[in-house]
Amino acid sequence: MSDRVIAGAPLPEEGQFELSLRPRVLKEYIGQKSVKDNLDVAISAARKRGEPLDHILLYGPPGLGKTTLASVIANEMNARFRATAGPLIQLKGDLTAILTNLEFGDVLFIDEIHRLQPNIEEILYPAMEDYKLDIIIGQGPSARTHRLDLRRFTLIGATTRAGLITAPLRSRFGIVHRLEFYTVEELEFIIRRSAEILGAKITAEGCAEIAKRCRGTPRVANRLLKRTRDFAEVRADGEITGSVAKDSLAMLDIDEHGFDEMDRKLLRAIIERFEGGPVGVNTIAAVLSEEVDAVEDIYEPYLLQIGFLQRTPRGRIATKLAYDHLRIPYRPSSNTLF
Ligand code: ADE
Repeated sequence: MSDRVIAGAPLPEEGQFELSLRPRVLKEYIGQKSVKDNLDVAISAARKRGEPLDHILLYGPPGLGKTTLASVIANEMNARFRATAGPLIQLKGDLTAILTNLEFGDVLFIDEIHRLQPNIEEILYPAMEDYKLDIIIGQGPSARTHRLDLRRFTLIGATTRAGLITAPLRSRFGIVHRLEFYTVEELEFIIRRSAEILGAKITAEGCAEIAKRCRGTPRVANRLLKRTRDFAEVRADGEITGSVAKDSLAMLDIDEHGFDEMDRKLLRAIIERFEGGPVGVNTIAAVLSEEVDAVEDIYEPYLLQIGFLQRTPRGRIATKLAYDHLRIPYRPSSNTLF
């Protein structure tokens, strides 16, 4: 799954590439207008008062710019940006060390915050609420708790689904925003900006072709830009035109909706093996030999958003759009019809 060209998750070699393409200030950050407007007010107010920002929870499918936005927020606050991720914090001491090293106003970004172990997550509660750290000294009957003062900081947590966060953690975020898939126009802006930074030549048609096929996701757009640039340099005269982009994406097996083999396999499985659904996500994951989380976080959100899939209490249903796309006559089972 991790080497899937259109997956939202970053590939290991993308770190530097992505960093250089990242906007640094809110004005450069394209799309997510309502989130930006709200953050702009919160940032301006906090700056005016000389206080750190409230803690912020950002959620939404992978690749939509949660980390980017967090670093933009830190920049706008003139604050240091400290980044880590839930699965990286394995010991209580790891988080204790991170928290005690924070300076006033620092932004601590925890990606995949839903993957913090429960006993580690608990450390965050007093840290977020009162800027206090409870540490236990000694063991057994002589063990005592000490409360340490932390410097006031802003925690920015990111997760793919808000529902994955425990209620006590969620309630400690003062600002909660969901990032949405980007429109084709916004993606065209992002691709054009990235092409300029990379020094890649691209026409309006080339840009539009990539924008239509990147599943509303900037990370995918930037990845496809890189792949089509390679293709343009090796198989054409270096410019990413509409037809170069089309040929390059065809070679990557990405169709006109930006679907790859996995998306088609998912839709085909629901239609052909379960008469169009409803079918539970666990069954879908088993058929695809994928993890349930991957199906829910990576594959489904875009298919739901563009109406190829519907989520019902009894399971997932493939819509007529999915049948048409796969050129399968629309003959859903009576179960599918409400
Ligand atoms: N690169 C990735 N996401 C972006 C965004 N939302 N705006 C500008 N550049 C980006």
